[in-house]
Formats: sequence, C-alpha cells, structure tokens
Amino acid sequence: MAETDSRYWKRHARRYDRATLFLNRRFGAMADRVAESIRGSQRVLEIAAGTGLVTARIAHAVDSLVATDRSPEMLAILRARKTAEGLTNVEVEEGDALALGFPDGSFDGVVIANLLHLLSDPGQALDEARRVLGSGGLLAAPTFCHGETPVSQIVSRLLGLTGFRVVTRFAGGALRQLLSHHGFTVQEEALFPGLLPIRLIVARARAVRAGREEKLPQKPQPVGDDQE
Ligand SMILES: C[S@@+](CC[C@H](N)C(=O)[O-])C[C@H]1O[C@@H](n2cnc3c(N)ncnc32)[C@H](O)[C@@H]1O
Repeated sequence: MAETDSRYWKRHARRYDRATLFLNRRFGAMADRVAESIRGSQRVLEIAAGTGLVTARIAHAVDSLVATDRSPEMLAILRARKTAEGLTNVEVEEGDALALGFPDGSFDGVVIANLLHLLSDPGQALDEARRVLGSGGLLAAPTFCHGETPVSQIVSRLLGLTGFRVVTRFAGGALRQLLSHHGFTVQEEALFPGLLPIRLIVARARAVRAGREEKLPQKPQPVGDDQE
C-alpha cells in the first residue's frame, strides 16, 4: 500500500533531486523554458516548489517569487538552496495547493510544477491558481506524464513499489484539456522526453464575468516535442 503523501516526501526529500534529474535529463531545459515563459512577471507564486529545482532556475526571470510547498522537509532543502544560490527575491512559505493563503488576484504568474499528477482533485488546485491570478495571469504547469510512453508506464509502476503514489498517468492531450476545463487558455505546449516525460503547458487565466467566461485571444505556438 502506498504511503501517505506527506510521509513519502518526508522520507524521500534528500533523494528527490538526484532521482528527478535521472528520471528526466531534460529537467533543466524544461525549467529554463518556464523561466522564459514567465519572464518579466512581477509577482509570481510557485506552488509545490519542493526542493527548489525549478525555483532556482526561474527566480532570475521575475521581480519576486513566493515559493510554497506542504512538506517541511522539502522546504528545508529549498531554504538551503535559496541561501547557497543567493536567491534574494525568493520568499519561502509552507502552504497547501488546495487552499492557498493569498487573496484573489494577488499574483500575475503562477508556476505549478509536477504536482497535478499527484492530486486526487487537480482541478481544485487549478481553481485556486486561477483565483490568485488576475484575469489574464500566466500559469506554467510542467507535469510528469507517466502515461505518455510504454517506458514511462513501466517506470511509473516501478516507482509505485517505493511508495510513490501517482493519481493520474497523464498522456497526450489530457493535461491540456484539464487546464482548458478549469478556465485557462493554452498558449504554449512542449514535451521534454525522458524515462518520465514532462509536458509543459503555459496558459492564461480566463476572466469570469457574471458567470460567463471571457475568451482571450490565443497566441499560436507550435505544439509538439521539444528536441533542442
Ligand atoms: C514531484 S514534487 C515536485 C517538486 C518541484 N515542483 C519540482 O518540480 O521539482 C511534488 C511536491 O508537491 C508537494 N505537494 C504534494 N501535495 C501538495 C499540496 N496539496 N500542496 C502543496 N504541495 C504539495 C510535495 O511536498 C512535493 O514537494
């Protein structure tokens, strides 16, 4: 039986970076692409920042970054990284993706990296992200897609033996559809291949006015594998 999420991250925090960079060797390129997507944003929230692998590569692109996670053990490593790498525009806070402690419209960018596949209700996290983003705010959601290839499906099952619990094995357009269903207009999409591929989706929050969603113009972007 899988461990509860908090016990898993407590036990595996110290091994997380090495395992993650092994499971996707394009992780750094993915994080750099996130940085480009949100470049110039003023106040960015990172949800489920973990040990800060993404944080450290995106902080330079924005004015200020609030990095949150629910696991104190993961955050301890993130705090050490903040000090070691001099990430002076990063604030670190404990926080739950499903109940963000920030007012509506308090950020112009949100990054939620590698969390949606772990949640029983990823839509609730997206609704929260949209709430704290103003209308037109930018969301970057790179997500491990365990269902993407036959190899990733096997790796995913092997990970399950270590107590790692994946709720959704995303594949193909499923992640895009989830974001679209929760009020985001997809602007950019790229797949970073690996033992566990990561699909990055960048999207803008649609406004809700009197119960009707505003349609934002969609910037045409190539959809497909990132092979740089
Ligand atoms: C796969 S790690 C991703 C970490 C980081 N974003 C990255 O890409 O390297 C998942 C993280 O989600 C955190 N997490 C799980 N459920 C959460 C929740 N409900 N709210 C906030 N963080 C959560 C875990 O503590 C863990 O740090």
